[in-house]
Amino acid sequence: MVSFSRRCLFAFLLAAAADALRVPQACPAIPSLTSFNDTALPDLFTFLDGRKVKTLADWACKREEISTLMQRDELGTLPGRPESMNVSFSGNTLTIGVTQSGKNITFAPTITYPTTGTAPFPALIGMGGVSIPTPSGVAIIQFNNEQMAAQDTAASRGQGLFFNLYGSDASAGAMIAWAWAVRLIMDALEKTPEANINTGRVGVTGCSRNGKGALVAGAFEPRLVLTIPQESGSGGTDSWRISDFILSTGISTQTASEIVQENVWLSSNFDQFANTSVNKLPFDHHSLAALVAPRGMFAIDNLGYDWLGPFSSYGAMISARTVWTAMGVSDFMGVSQAANHTHCVFPSTQQPQLNAFIQKFLFDEQTDTDIVETAGNYTFEVPDAQWAPWSVPKFV
Ligand SMILES: *[C@@H]1O[C@H](CO)[C@@H](O)[C@H](O)[C@H]1NC(C)=O
Ligand SMILES: *[C@@H]1O[C@H](CO)[C@@H](O)[C@H](O)[C@H]1NC(C)=O
Ligand SMILES: *[C@@H]1O[C@H](CO)[C@@H](O)[C@H](O)[C@H]1NC(C)=O
Ligand SMILES: *[C@@H]1O[C@H](CO)[C@@H](O)[C@H](O)[C@H]1NC(C)=O
Ligand SMILES: *[C@@H]1O[C@H](CO)[C@@H](O)[C@H](O)[C@H]1NC(C)=O
Ligand SMILES: *[C@@H]1O[C@H](CO)[C@@H](O)[C@H](O)[C@H]1NC(C)=O
Repeated sequence: MVSFSRRCLFAFLLAAAADALRVPQACPAIPSLTSFNDTALPDLFTFLDGRKVKTLADWACKREEISTLMQRDELGTLPGRPESMNVSFSGNTLTIGVTQSGKNITFAPTITYPTTGTAPFPALIGMGGVSIPTPSGVAIIQFNNEQMAAQDTAASRGQGLFFNLYGSDASAGAMIAWAWAVRLIMDALEKTPEANINTGRVGVTGCSRNGKGALVAGAFEPRLVLTIPQESGSGGTDSWRISDFILSTGISTQTASEIVQENVWLSSNFDQFANTSVNKLPFDHHSLAALVAPRGMFAIDNLGYDWLGPFSSYGAMISARTVWTAMGVSDFMGVSQAANHTHCVFPSTQQPQLNAFIQKFLFDEQTDTDIVETAGNYTFEVPDAQWAPWSVPKFV
């Protein structure tokens, strides 16, 4: 039995960094899903072949099932490590050179070091920048995600350094391309002790469209110990299904069918679902967030913008949190929805909550992160008859 006692908590997180959720040999096969059609968020504790997810080893398989299908049907393929990578560090710049199939690219995240604290420093990777206040003692690694994969319009498909390497017809949408680059940043930091970053204490954050990207990076890069998507909306913390429902009640909310017309965050493989019915997806974005477990996650939202679908985010995040609950660490996953404020301007009301997550996951302090809070008039618990009609086990 795996128990996440507080004592072994950080040991576990480090082990997760070394891929403790290693996929066992005998996972259930993924059935043909031609008739999948579920109006509710798919049950995180049942394999698609009907078997139940009862143990942490089962979860490693379920996690693989979700990852495989999300890459296939929504995000596009996350390539393996490239043939070669070299790194140089100079000033505050980490220059990463990558070669693959005779092609090469170079990208160069910059690091802003804190003026307090001790090296090697914990760090946050800023997906296209950081919109939360810089925590004291934490380095900020600026990742220029748009150079890696453009996100200007629907015409941006296949543009950016990632596609110079893997071809403009690669299945990857922009977000999985960014996640690929974040993995290389972690590899580069591990090879570069002189960069003075504690690679066991790195998180990721971003706001709005870059918050969508921060969630995907946190989901697919297991060495990140803290994922902070901020006001990420559909394609981020929102459920495709709930957002469609909200739109159907006349509230202007971003949905799958809109998003595939607007930009290239997702693979074009997703169009078939966005154009017909998201109920055919054997996952939703509660599944995406669940890939982060048991690592730290803090989902930050803003009730002021219908477009962000705050109830959709709430329902999806409360549903995702059940996986942390099954693991016995529900407090590693926080949900906070503040009252109306300007988009991506972090409100002071959420500062103590953010501090608690930063202190726990980047500094090993035993803070209280048992946070589920909304300024909205929402009640949502699992099981929820309409959206999450499934029960939550305790993993044995
Ligand atoms: C999917 O299920 C809904 C009801 O839950 C039904 O109305 C619809 O016809 C089904 N679609 C398909 C393609 O089976
Ligand atoms: C990687 O190695 C190549 C060949 O030696 C060199 O030209 C390039 O500058 C190196 N890139 C980095 C980022 O160190
Ligand atoms: C990178 O590709 C360019 C051509 O695109 C080539 O001139 C250069 O030699 C390559 N560099 C390495 C290190 O392979
Ligand atoms: C989805 O709909 C858009 C707009 O009607 C169209 O351009 C695209 O080809 C469709 N894609 C698929 C896979 O149905
Ligand atoms: C949010 O606040 C802004 C002003 O700060 C206001 O213009 C807007 O109407 C408010 N939105 C809602 C949904 O209350
Ligand atoms: C919250 O929602 C319920 C049900 O929709 C409604 O009866 C109640 O008045 C709402 N409360 C507030 C404070 O808006």
